[in-house]
Amino acid sequence: MYNIAIDGPAGAGKSTIAKIVAKELGFIYVDTGAMYRTIALACFRAGIKADESEKVIAKLDDIEVTLGYDNGTQKVYLNGEDVSLEIRREEIGNMTSAIAVYEKVRENMVEMQRELAAKNDVVMDGRDIGTAVLPNADLKIYLTASSRTRAERRCKELVEKGVNCDIDTVEKDIIDRDYRDMHREISPLTQAEDAVLVDSSNMSIDEVVKEIIKLKNER
Ligand code: CDP
Ligand code: CDP
Repeated sequence: MYNIAIDGPAGAGKSTIAKIVAKELGFIYVDTGAMYRTIALACFRAGIKADESEKVIAKLDDIEVTLGYDNGTQKVYLNGEDVSLEIRREEIGNMTSAIAVYEKVRENMVEMQRELAAKNDVVMDGRDIGTAVLPNADLKIYLTASSRTRAERRCKELVEKGVNCDIDTVEKDIIDRDYRDMHREISPLTQAEDAVLVDSSNMSIDEVVKEIIKLKNER
């Protein structure tokens, strides 16, 4: 199986780019962030706060996260309910990075991700794919962009949805989330030694896609 790992901070363009690369190559796209977001959503709905570690871990026994594919689009289910849209809420994203620190939360997710990659050609995006989940991936990309660029991209998305956006607040949330993701004890976000760094601050989506396909073809 051919495995491509794409890691990087929030808003770097990982999911947008991974989705297109997977489509062009006929691979499956695996959005690992969606899996962690689903756990956060279940806790949120149960009124559990991210720092209530014992409650979060106890809640895991009631949660079954499953993935499905609809016309190549990944769907994520919480105990059978399609939550693919609900997990995208900004507050769920912020809560997710706070629950993703717990080892128990990561264990099951990583096992599912490895199984998918063993059985399929995949483009998998997340924070720890190249470093922890698939250390032997055939191609590893560390995709990043400046925090201001990433905040601008997020705001553009919100404004298009008719939601007001304060760029400074969004950038601060992004910086806080990066800090939590990069400084946690277990599988922090870091560039794998053998990952290719792609800074998309001044690159279009199309240019990033072409760069990744080129890197794949060179191997
Ligand atoms: O998955 P991740 O959080 O890394 O980022 P994303 O949700 O794929 O991308 C965030 C936003 O940036 C989306 O609206 C993309 O369309 C946009 N983007 C961009 O404008 N230029 C790029 N080179 C990459 C992404
Ligand atoms: O799309 P965006 O970059 O905003 O976030 P995401 O990829 O959906 O991930 C949400 C959060 O899940 C991240 O901030 C990480 O804390 C966590 N995550 C993780 O710990 N490990 C992964 N492989 C993927 C996501």
